[in-house]
Amino acid sequence: VQQLRIILIGYRGTGKSTLGRLLAAELQWPFFDADEELEQSAGKCIAEIFRDSGEQVFRDLEEQVLGPLLQRSPLVLATGGGAILRESNRARLRQSGFVVWLQASAEELWERLQLDPLTGTRRPNLSQGGLAEVQELLAKREPFYQQTASFRLSTSGRSPEELASCILSEWRARVADLPPQPLD
Ligand code: S3P
Repeated sequence: VQQLRIILIGYRGTGKSTLGRLLAAELQWPFFDADEELEQSAGKCIAEIFRDSGEQVFRDLEEQVLGPLLQRSPLVLATGGGAILRESNRARLRQSGFVVWLQASAEELWERLQLDPLTGTRRPNLSQGGLAEVQELLAKREPFYQQTASFRLSTSGRSPEELASCILSEWRARVADLPPQPLD
């Protein structure tokens, strides 16, 4: 059922995984992190995939992993920051559930990326370009996040708990507006 999926999109460092886990715990739904699933199925960490095979191969794997994940229901899913780059993924994400775009300024993101212990293994060398690179990628990707999202939320100055309750009340309001759907 389409309404029983909450999908988080947004740039690296917007808190998709932290928030995803929190939402899943509140709803008692399973949580999946698309990057983790990808690493498990490839048997390598993301930095290695980028290094050994390049970004296109990584994006192919990302698309392959999203397919079966988006069949799950109920589901809370954290996607990789670049999952919205392909139109096929954008369409699939949009059709699959309530898509929340987590936003933050380039400055905040750059700070968070430097503090995140996963940056070395989960973020390829892409993130060596500093603030300028974050600004450039954000500007390029914003239209794609925009096209994919059902709801956008600024994470600035808000705790994960506040963000989770905001997402849940928005999701509940939208689900309440939908006609009842048959169970599958
Ligand atoms: C990427 C973001 C990462 C990961 C990969 C590429 C990107 O995901 O998928 O390193 O292009 O922005 P997170 O947003 O989960 O860090």
